[in-house]
Amino acid sequence: MPSTGTEQHPPTALVIGASRGLGHAMTAEFLDRGWNVVGTVRDTTARTPLRDLADRADGRLTVEHLDINEPGQLPTLHERLAHRRLDVLFVNAGTTSNEQTPIGAVATADFIDVMVTNALSPMRVIEALEDLVSPAGLIGVMSSGQGSITNNTTGGREVYRGSKAALNMFLRSFAARQGETQRAFVLMAPGWIRTALGGPDAPFTIEETVPLIVDVLLSRLGTPGVAYLDRFGRTVPW
Ligand SMILES: NC(=O)c1ccc[n+]([C@@H]2O[C@H](COP(=O)([O-])OP(=O)(O)OC[C@H]3O[C@@H](n4cnc5c(N)ncnc54)[C@H](OP(=O)(O)O)[C@@H]3O)[C@@H](O)[C@H]2O)c1
Repeated sequence: MPSTGTEQHPPTALVIGASRGLGHAMTAEFLDRGWNVVGTVRDTTARTPLRDLADRADGRLTVEHLDINEPGQLPTLHERLAHRRLDVLFVNAGTTSNEQTPIGAVATADFIDVMVTNALSPMRVIEALEDLVSPAGLIGVMSSGQGSITNNTTGGREVYRGSKAALNMFLRSFAARQGETQRAFVLMAPGWIRTALGGPDAPFTIEETVPLIVDVLLSRLGTPGVAYLDRFGRTVPW
C-alpha cells in the first residue's frame, strides 16, 4: 500500500457521490487496496451498489448521507466524521444536461443546476470538510478533460465544459489560499467512460479506468500543490 504520509493505518478516504458509477468503483478500489472508506449517497433508503458493497466490506465502508446541493446537510456530515482523520477527500458527484444545446440556448434552470452541482457544491463540500483532512493528505475532485479551455477546439457539451472549467478555477483558488500546505490537490480528468453520465458510446469501461484513477491519486499523496491530471498522471492543459 503506498504511503499516505500519515501515521494512520489503514488510511481513510471519503468519497462524495459514491452511490454508483465512478464513485462507487473508486470506493471498491480503495477497499481492495486495504483502505477504509466513507462513501456518501443522496438517498440513504435506496438499494444502491454502494450499499451492496458495504454489506461485503467487513465494516471498512461507512455509508453517509449528503446531497451536495443542500449545504445545510454539511454540518451534520462534519459532526458525524469529526472523530475520523481523512487521508483523501474526493468529491466525485457531478451531473450534466442536454449536451447538444449551444450555450445561448440553454435554459437558465439547466445552467444553474449544472453549474451549482459541478462547480459551486463541490467547493462548498471541500470548504466545510477540509479540516478533517490530514495536513499531508489529498483533496481531489472529479473534473473532466472537457474542462480544459486549451483543448476545446470543437465546442459542444458547453454548460458541462464551463462547469468543469469553473471547478478547476475554484479548486486552484482554494489551493492558493492554503499557503504553505503539505496537501496535494488533484483535478482528475478521467477520460470518457461508460456510466449513466458518460453514456453507452463512451470508449472506456469503469473496470479499465478506475484503478488508474486511484493510482494517480495515491501517487500524488505527499506532493504539495494543485495538479490537473488525466488517469495516466499526465498534466492536462488548463
Ligand atoms: N463518465 C464519464 O465519461 C466522465 C468523464 C469525465 C468526468 N466525469 C465526472 O465523473 C463524476 C462521476 O460521473 P459518473 O460518470 O460516474 O456518473 P453517474 O454514474 O451518473 O454518477 C453520478 C454520481 O454523482 C452523484 N450525484 C449527482 N448529483 C449529486 C448531488 N447533488 N449530491 C450528491 N451526489 C450527486 C450521483 O448520485 P445519485 O445516485 O444520488 O444520483 C452518482 O453517484 C462526475 O463528476 C462526472 O462529471 C465523468
